[in-house]
Amino acid sequence: MGQVDLVVAMDSDNGIGKSGGLPWQLSADLRHFRDITTRMDHPPKRNAVIMGRRTWLSIPSKFRPLPDRINVILSRDPAFQAPEGALKAQSLTEADHLLARDPVGFDRAFVIGGQQIYELALRETACRRIYLTRVHRRFDCDAFFPTLPPEFQEISAGPVLSENGLDYSFHIFEYVPLPASGAK
Ligand SMILES: NC(=O)c1ccc[n+]([C@@H]2O[C@H](COP(=O)([O-])OP(=O)(O)OC[C@H]3O[C@@H](n4cnc5c(N)ncnc54)[C@H](OP(=O)(O)O)[C@@H]3O)[C@@H](O)[C@H]2O)c1
Repeated sequence: MGQVDLVVAMDSDNGIGKSGGLPWQLSADLRHFRDITTRMDHPPKRNAVIMGRRTWLSIPSKFRPLPDRINVILSRDPAFQAPEGALKAQSLTEADHLLARDPVGFDRAFVIGGQQIYELALRETACRRIYLTRVHRRFDCDAFFPTLPPEFQEISAGPVLSENGLDYSFHIFEYVPLPASGAK
């Protein structure tokens, strides 16, 4: 798989989900997510959003597929058919091939969760950026973001904002190769 960016919202404990859904309600973060994943650098090419089957199912049916983006669902289950308006891939490599065949072409690819697919993407892709929303509270999560590899350095940290008493902030991390050990 070529270069991807990750988009994630996590609590103070790196928790990202609970019982198959998001543990918080933050409309400003949903707008932030939509803006990041929809903004095109090279229109009319659309961006792609790549997600696990469980994350797809967590999106209310009236909001999926996510509009103005190529939706790719990862599943190893041969019985799971691509829902109307979305693509299904059995691996990130297959997702790459499907996207390469898009008639208009795609611009940027975003991995949007959940836990299994973030882990896969950090292991198997050239991940360039992580758009991270930090929710400043601990929820009782059962899905978590993996430990951020040390190569990811924070390049932007937004102010602490608040919605309905819940504090959150927007951050960007970028992959910067660590200097080879012994380098001066
Ligand atoms: N806070 C956030 O930003 C955020 C973002 C997204 C999701 N979430 C939350 O995260 C939770 C879901 O995470 P999750 O880890 O349970 O599920 P997930 O990563 O969304 O999806 C897991 C599914 O992906 C498929 N899969 C996994 N590895 C694969 C591989 N190597 N190749 C192809 N397909 C593969 C499998 O589908 P099959 O079983 O069909 O084979 C697996 O069951 C929910 O609570 C959701 O709300 C939070």
